[in-house]
Amino acid sequence: MRPSGFLAALSTALFGCAAAKDAPVVIDNPQGVEFKATLPKKPFFAGAALVGNVKGSVSATAGPAGKGVRFRVQFENLPKTGGPFLYHIHEEPAVNGNCTSTLAHLDPYHRGETPACNASEPQTCQVGDLSGKYGKITSDPFVAEYFDLYTSLQPGSPAFFGNRSIVVHYANKTRLTCANFAKLPVPAATTVHSTAGAHHTAIHGPLATGGAHHNLTGSHNTTSHHNFTSPHRTTGAASPSDVYTLTSVVTVPGSPTTSSSLTTTDAGNGGASATSSVVPFPGAASGNRVSLSLLSGVVAAIFFSL
Ligand SMILES: *[C@@H]1O[C@H](CO)[C@@H](O)[C@H](O)[C@H]1NC(C)=O
Ligand SMILES: *[C@@H]1O[C@H](CO)[C@@H](O)[C@H](O)[C@H]1NC(C)=O
Ligand SMILES: *[C@@H]1O[C@H](CO)[C@@H](O)[C@H](O)[C@H]1NC(C)=O
Ligand SMILES: *[C@@H]1O[C@H](CO)[C@@H](O)[C@H](O)[C@H]1NC(C)=O
Ligand SMILES: *[C@@H]1O[C@H](CO)[C@@H](O)[C@H](O)[C@H]1NC(C)=O
Ligand SMILES: *[C@@H]1O[C@H](CO)[C@@H](O)[C@H](O)[C@H]1NC(C)=O
Ligand SMILES: *[C@@H]1O[C@H](CO)[C@@H](O)[C@H](O)[C@H]1NC(C)=O
Repeated sequence: MRPSGFLAALSTALFGCAAAKDAPVVIDNPQGVEFKATLPKKPFFAGAALVGNVKGSVSATAGPAGKGVRFRVQFENLPKTGGPFLYHIHEEPAVNGNCTSTLAHLDPYHRGETPACNASEPQTCQVGDLSGKYGKITSDPFVAEYFDLYTSLQPGSPAFFGNRSIVVHYANKTRLTCANFAKLPVPAATTVHSTAGAHHTAIHGPLATGGAHHNLTGSHNTTSHHNFTSPHRTTGAASPSDVYTLTSVVTVPGSPTTSSSLTTTDAGNGGASATSSVVPFPGAASGNRVSLSLLSGVVAAIFFSL
């Protein structure tokens, strides 16, 4: 271990407990607004293995009854090398596309970068560390949907991010591209009202990339069966319950079929749990047939998450 690493570890051991403050659950997120960050046409740092820029967006709306934020994340056309990619909410907006000016991760409770986020305890992570809490970008296209209980859509809140940015990084932290959040009006009919609490389901989907399978991690294998049974558990106000694990069948002509199943685990007393999903990107899979069971699986995921 390098001396600096040792000192960091030591100071964490000595002072970490006193300094660490868990992120509080946000319960006052406003319905009827969406904040969305859409990646620009040009990358900030392309590296060698990227044509154009990563395409995609991060969209955020209030969770059920204003508890937490529902994130919908889509990325595609990622670089062929340099992954798995990370993405975070950063403190400041980009200025003229300059991702350096976004500064550090959104970290209103001053947790710092180390130790790395433990996804089993998302309240202890940097508020803006979305890939730490809900998974790195390991597929192309990459789609994820989840509830985060610690981010805010309410201006004035320490965890408010509607005036900030999203940054996509290479695995080595180099900033690849970034976008600022902007507020969009949402028709009232599409807002969600529920008393059921946020569900959190992890769905790590097989890749359907229109026949062009990229290795983002060097180890991803679209022909193997993925085990999707490790849902993120949130430890909000109550114990997690109804942890849904959704998997799906994807049929892509010219490639093997990956299949799995939907299971429901009743973890007990009707508390809050949250759900993240990483599923293939039906809209992007032009030329592919994504089977009905996948689509119904996605619908089921959305249904269960309401
Ligand atoms: C980070 O990774 C990218 C992609 O592999 C590479 O182009 C870039 O030079 C790396 N940056 C650093 C600082 O090593
Ligand atoms: C981007 O912003 C950083 C910090 O704000 C600044 O040092 C750098 O010169 C900027 N780069 C460009 C290309 O403007
Ligand atoms: C992450 O948190 C879980 C639950 O508290 C714990 O069991 C696990 O050991 C932690 N992992 C690391 C790497 O600290
Ligand atoms: C964003 O909003 C928060 C909360 O209202 C505020 O504290 C912060 O200064 C704002 N940041 C920028 C870059 O405007
Ligand atoms: C993809 O990963 C496999 C297994 O790690 C490796 O053998 C193969 O060369 C990789 N392909 C590309 C295009 O990187
Ligand atoms: C992917 O996994 C399957 C089953 O584990 C194996 O048969 C196949 O050789 C692997 N393909 C690659 C490219 O690693
Ligand atoms: C998937 O994970 C579950 C729980 O961790 C385990 O019981 C099961 O055997 C795993 N299945 C595969 C195919 O690895």
